[in-house]
Amino acid sequence: MFAECVSALNEAGIPNSTKEVELVFSDVLKLQIPQVYLHFQDALEQEDSERITGIIAERKKRIPLAYLLSKVEFYNVELRINRGVFVPRPETELLVENTISILKDINDLAAGKILELGTGSGAIACALAKDGAAEEIIATDISGEAITNATQNAELNGVEDRISFYQGHWFEPLRDLGIEGEVSIVVSNPPYIRRDDIPGLTPEVKDYDPQIALDGGPDGLKCIREIMSEAPVFLKSGGCLILEIGYDQRHELENLFEGNKHYDDIEFVKDYNGYDRICIFKRV
Ligand SMILES: C[S@@+](CC[C@H](N)C(=O)[O-])C[C@H]1O[C@@H](n2cnc3c(N)ncnc32)[C@H](O)[C@@H]1O
Repeated sequence: MFAECVSALNEAGIPNSTKEVELVFSDVLKLQIPQVYLHFQDALEQEDSERITGIIAERKKRIPLAYLLSKVEFYNVELRINRGVFVPRPETELLVENTISILKDINDLAAGKILELGTGSGAIACALAKDGAAEEIIATDISGEAITNATQNAELNGVEDRISFYQGHWFEPLRDLGIEGEVSIVVSNPPYIRRDDIPGLTPEVKDYDPQIALDGGPDGLKCIREIMSEAPVFLKSGGCLILEIGYDQRHELENLFEGNKHYDDIEFVKDYNGYDRICIFKRV
C-alpha cells in the first residue's frame, strides 16, 4: 500500500511524495518514520487503511498535507495548523537559526525583547521561545485565525508564558505597551510575493495559503517597506531587523537600505540553494 500511495501522489504531480507518504503512515499508524519501514508491509487494520486512503485522495486534490494532518514540524516544535492559517515552510527555519545566532552575538541585548510580525501559526515565536532565545517575545498578526492558532501552539509547546500575541496591523497593537526603543530584534517572514506572480504558484500555495499571507503588493515590497519604516521606533540602538525575502529581492532591499538613514548596516544570508533569503538591517 505504501508504494501505491507514493505512485498516486507522483501521478498527481506532487514532489517529495515518498516523504509525504512517510508522514501520512507515521501519523495514522502512530509510528516513528524508521518504524514505518519496519512495518509497512504488515497487514493494516481496515480503519487505518481507510484513513490513509482518505488522506491520499485529499492530497491528490493538492490540499497541503499540513492541513490534512492538522500539524507540521518546524525547527524544534510541533505545530497544530488550522485551515486559513499560513503553513510554515522549512526555509523559514533559516530565519529562526539566524535570529538565535544574532541574539548570541549581541548578547548584551539578549535579555531584551523580540518582536515577531505576522506570526501566522506562531512558528517563529514558538521556536525562539522554546530555544530560550530571549526573555520576552511579542508577536502580532492581522488575522484573528492566525492569533488563535498561534496561541494554541504556544500552549501546546509549553511556551505560553514567554509570548504575548496581539491582533492588528504590524506594530499598531503595540503602541500602548511603552516599549519604543527597547526591542533587541524585530523578525518577520512578511508577505513578499509580487501580486501578479501569485496565480503562477503551485495549487497548494495559491489556492490554500491565505492571500493576505502571500500578497506583497504590486512589487512584492509593500509589507517590507511598512515594517522597515516603523521598526526603528521600537528597536534599540544596535538592534536588528531580520526579514525573510524572496530569492530575487536582494537588489531592491539594498535600494531601500540606501534610502533609510535609520539603519547603518545591511547583510544577507544565503539559503542552501545559494539564494539570498535573509536580510538583516542594523539600527543606528
Ligand atoms: C508569510 S506569512 C508568515 C507566517 C509565519 N510567521 C511563518 O513564517 O510561518 C505572513 C503573515 O503575515 C500576516 N500579515 C499580513 N499582513 C499583515 C499586517 N498588515 N499586519 C500584521 N500581520 C500581517 C499574515 O496574516 C500571515 O500570517
